[in-house]
Amino acid sequence: MTVTNPFIESRLKSPEEVALLLPRDVTLGCSGFTPAGYPKLIPPAFAKRIETEQKQGHEFSIRLYAGASTGEELDGALAKTGALKLRIPYQSNSYLRNQINAGNVDFIDMHLSHVVKYIEHGILPSIDAAIVEAVDVTSDGKVYLTTSSGMSATYLQKAKEIYIELSDVHPQELKGYHDIYLPTHHSKGGPIPILSPDDRIGQPYVQVDPSLIKGIVRSSARDASAEFKAPDADCIAIADHVLEFIRDEIKKGRIPKEYLPFQNGVGNIANAVLGSMAKNDHFHEIQMYTEVVQDSAFDLIDAGKLQVASTSALTFSGKGLERFHKNINEWKSKFIIRPQEISNHPEVIRRMGLIAMNTALEVDIYGNVNSTHVMGTSMMNGIGGSGDFTRNSHLCIFMTPSLAKNGDISAIVPFVSHTDHSEHSTMIIVTEQGLADLRGCPPKKRAELIIEKCAHPSYRDRLRSYYETAKQVSKGKHTPHHLEEALSWHVRFLKTGSMK
Ligand code: COA
Repeated sequence: MTVTNPFIESRLKSPEEVALLLPRDVTLGCSGFTPAGYPKLIPPAFAKRIETEQKQGHEFSIRLYAGASTGEELDGALAKTGALKLRIPYQSNSYLRNQINAGNVDFIDMHLSHVVKYIEHGILPSIDAAIVEAVDVTSDGKVYLTTSSGMSATYLQKAKEIYIELSDVHPQELKGYHDIYLPTHHSKGGPIPILSPDDRIGQPYVQVDPSLIKGIVRSSARDASAEFKAPDADCIAIADHVLEFIRDEIKKGRIPKEYLPFQNGVGNIANAVLGSMAKNDHFHEIQMYTEVVQDSAFDLIDAGKLQVASTSALTFSGKGLERFHKNINEWKSKFIIRPQEISNHPEVIRRMGLIAMNTALEVDIYGNVNSTHVMGTSMMNGIGGSGDFTRNSHLCIFMTPSLAKNGDISAIVPFVSHTDHSEHSTMIIVTEQGLADLRGCPPKKRAELIIEKCAHPSYRDRLRSYYETAKQVSKGKHTPHHLEEALSWHVRFLKTGSMK
């Protein structure tokens, strides 16, 4: 829906006009979170200008900050100019990923809850221009964001100049979904007053100085929407193990019978778990305190089970977004969109005692988890919020299929090639083979559980053999390793294309 007012009219520009206003050496703070609500018109126009002026001998240098991952029109377009020098804090664009892994773009892979502090304290270069997607802007500087919050509030408040992509894709009723609150970063600020996922503590808009808004571009561009595959047998098996485990924890009195709020990571496994919860008669009245809500939320709504989902982004498929728009008034009490500083804040996560469910690339026999680095050196996406939730939740669950690449990779390895979540933080490891509860277990017990419960049968004997040799040759018997062999599976894969 097209929105207008005299202030908007006075600032209207084309993407090309805005692109001409951006400095050649620039730090951009953009909206966008996995990958909802990112600017889609100004960045490609800027990329075009860069390519033209590069041919005339001009040099550009861009540092790009967003909330998390964005789409091709932002990450892809700017990476393709060759002028992108730095990206924070999370990405999933294949071109950008290749540039990072080729050593051409610096990437700082950060806990999402840390980004605000790094910007506020000047640890990272300050922001020259914020480019943010919004559904409305008022003459007194109220900016109403679209489907993500992410880092937008901080970038808008810290930028020297602000550019808005005013989207007519979403109904104006999206106003009211956001709860913008940023804490003070020192002890004087007091606690963040969220006791329950449905608590609203802030404003539905970001307040900025309107004189800093130098350009507004009208946009009908849609987010690149995530289409989800129907869950395969492995995803369903993983979901079944997780749900059975949670029911058992309830029986043991470790989780109240009305549950604790859930955090759910990105991707197909995460979707499958929520889909299974929707179908499972033992699950009802679900609350979520998470950073991304995907289409699986609809399964819970259809089953009458979703009480509320607090998130930093609504990342729906094309069909999902249509459904959301149709129900936008009715669902205002179901979804709250928060800045990532709040959706991922350790204080709030620990206070509410979440059940966190995230995906691993690989797990070692002692429970160290690698979520980010393929074969130890190549960046996949980034740690995102997985560390914020893993370290602070009541219960953290890591899920992965036991095999990747048609069985040439075992997700259970002797030694992870990179550690994102150490054995001190991880609690529950789940593959389609089974579930290992590592809580209260010393290292050798953890190894036995992970090998016997989680490894794929085609790698189990090899893991047993590694572990037996490790016990014999290891100098220290506390966490036995055969150091010469610890990364040999990865080395073999790199040399031969298979860990076998
Ligand atoms: N070694 C090498 N490659 C592996 C692997 C391993 N151990 N395990 C999986 N892969 C590959 C897959 O084959 C697939 O490759 P492809 O893209 O060429 O097909 C790719 O990694 C992604 O795997 P997939 O099974 O599709 O997983 P996913 O989409 O569920 O993503 C993560 C898994 C770990 C990459 C993703 O969850 C992530 O980025 N996590 C970190 C951030 C996070 O947890 N955020 C949570 C809060 S939202």
